[in-house]
Amino acid sequence: MIIAIDGPAASGKGTLGKRLAAHYHFRHLDTGVIYRAVAKTLLDAGADLTDEARAVAAAMELDPEKFGDPVLKTQAVGDAASVVSASPRVREVLVSFQRQFAAEPPGAVLDGRDIGTVICPDADVKIFVVADPVVRARRRTLEARARGEAADEALVLADILKRDERDRNRATAPLKAAPDAHLLDNSHLDIEGGVRAAIDIVEAVRAGRQRV
Ligand code: DC
Repeated sequence: MIIAIDGPAASGKGTLGKRLAAHYHFRHLDTGVIYRAVAKTLLDAGADLTDEARAVAAAMELDPEKFGDPVLKTQAVGDAASVVSASPRVREVLVSFQRQFAAEPPGAVLDGRDIGTVICPDADVKIFVVADPVVRARRRTLEARARGEAADEALVLADILKRDERDRNRATAPLKAAPDAHLLDNSHLDIEGGVRAAIDIVEAVRAGRQRV
């Protein structure tokens, strides 16, 4: 079984993906980390983020062993990831890595921006997570402060709105809900409430299948 979770920055889709994967004993891939890793390679080299040839080279040399690097979670790397991920050539290089991950048993949860639309259009369950940008900014600010980073909530909100705009309006694989995705608005849910709502969606899809 493949579960695709898409949604904007700081919507909680990553945590949801991790928790759903643990619940069903599936493997989990936070696909944002891939774009963040590519962006970090360019940042470390002092390269221009719009240098497509360099970004493609970084994507081809992706090292999953480095996906756990906490620096990848920072806002600076996230912003840079939003820029490099707009390149169709970078995205193309990363498609097979993601599809291979999804195909391996026993099942997988992938979260990102284009999982239900481009990477796994045949996913068994698609969930599109949304939350009010003000709520997302609040949550991201608290997370950053918990990591010991200074964070100004108004700036975080501005960053989220800018990132949403860039991710939604790029020509290749923009952030959008697949027509068969189930919408999950977690603006007024805590993490446990969001996880429960997601499990309810997966179980409803499974039950529907068993009936036919
Ligand atoms: O989900 P995130 O904040 O870690 O993602 C960082 C950036 O990577 C995001 O702004 C856009 C890009 N991204 C993407 O284009 N496609 C994905 N499947 C995941 C992330």
